[in-house]
Amino acid sequence: MGAAVSVAAVVPAAGSGTRLGAGAPKAFVPLGGVPIVVRAVDGLLASGAVDEVLVAVPADLLDHARALLAGRPVTVLVGGGARTASVRLALDVLSGPHGCERPGGPAGDGPPEVVLVHDAARPLTPPALVAAVVAEVRAGHPAVVPALPLADTVKRVGVAAAVEATVDRSELRAAQTPQGFAWETLRAAYGKSGVDAVATDDAGLVERLGAPVVTVPGDPAAFKVTTPWDLRIAELLLEEKA
Ligand code: CTP
Ligand code: MG
Repeated sequence: MGAAVSVAAVVPAAGSGTRLGAGAPKAFVPLGGVPIVVRAVDGLLASGAVDEVLVAVPADLLDHARALLAGRPVTVLVGGGARTASVRLALDVLSGPHGCERPGGPAGDGPPEVVLVHDAARPLTPPALVAAVVAEVRAGHPAVVPALPLADTVKRVGVAAAVEATVDRSELRAAQTPQGFAWETLRAAYGKSGVDAVATDDAGLVERLGAPVVTVPGDPAAFKVTTPWDLRIAELLLEEKA
């Protein structure tokens, strides 16, 4: 796998899960008995399109995460105070060499050719979606985002809950992960943005660079577990599959 083109996936999993409120960092909350981050990593590897995974976790869960993910081509590192910071720290490791071999990494421990960034909080992402994103990057697109149309009518709302406008839904898409990039493109996007850059996704930083970003059809199953409602839906979907 990946003999010609090496593919790494970065999984930010260092968030606290405030909105889920499960009493533990979200990535470590069990879903059908398996921690959310383990499901996300195994989905990436099951695609057959990913050689190695880097997982950014809270500092006090580093050893725990390493034990959970043992036996896989995974490098676990300490994340940062914002999602952007967690991804940046993982990219720094991928820039390597850092004196320690990355399991599944390319020979010489250098950077990969293709890099995905995938939220740990999307544990039911179909492996076929991962493979589709990688295929689009390998076909020559420097930045690829899975995206879905919106079902609801969208309003812009100002002060006192007053509607200011109805936004044209037809040109809007909800962006999911994994987002895929040519290594140099994502590295440049993070290099150009300041360390305190705020972005809720990685393609947003690439857009600021002026590089083209294309979409591929997303998948409802790649939804992000954000609230207790989402976790319930995820549990029900798993029961249905069992
Ligand atoms: N993330 C991260 N480092 C941070 C913050 C977020 O690696 N400092 C990760 C989360 O672990 C998650 C992904 O980024 O996998 C998407 O973030 P989000 O859904 O907002 O998760 P949390 O920040 O954990 O949740 P909340 O915002 O409700 O606290
Ligand atoms: Mg968050």
